[in-house]
Amino acid sequence: MTNAPDEPKPAAGTPTGPVLFYTETLLEHFRNPRNVGELAEADTDGFGLVGDPSCGDQMKLWIAVRDGRIAKIAFQSFGCPGAIATSSMLTELAEGKPIEEARRITDDDVIEALGGIPENKKHCSLLGVQALQVALGDWEGRQAAKAARS
Ligand code: FES
Repeated sequence: MTNAPDEPKPAAGTPTGPVLFYTETLLEHFRNPRNVGELAEADTDGFGLVGDPSCGDQMKLWIAVRDGRIAKIAFQSFGCPGAIATSSMLTELAEGKPIEEARRITDDDVIEALGGIPENKKHCSLLGVQALQVALGDWEGRQAAKAARS
C-alpha cells in the first residue's frame, strides 16, 4: 500500500501508534553508542552502578562536573540493544546540562528522543536514567564530604 501523493507522511522516527520494532534512531545509537567507556578516577566526580533484577542487566555511569554542569559523561552497559541505545541517548541528553536539568531527565525523555521503543523494552531505558541519578547522588555526597573537610 502506498500513501496518496498529497497525504502527509510522518517524519522519520515519529511514532504513529504503538512502536513494535526498534526505530532507526535507536538502532543507530545501538550500532554507534556515544560516550562508551569510563572516566579516569581523577576526572570522576560521580559514579553510579545499577542493575535490573528482572533481566540481570547492569549499567555503570561516570560523570565529571565543571561549573555546575555535566562536563563529561561515560557509560558501560552489560545489557540488551535497548539498554545500550537508551543509555547512549541519555548521555547525549545529559552532557553539558546544568545539574538541576540533568536531574530532571526522565526515561520518557530518552524514549521520545529515540522516536519510541517497543512496549516490552521500556524498562531498559530506566537503567541509564537510574544510573545518572545515582551518579548525581554520589557527586552530591562527595561535595558534602569536601565541604565538611574544609
Ligand atoms: Fe534488560 Fe533491556 S532487557 S535492560
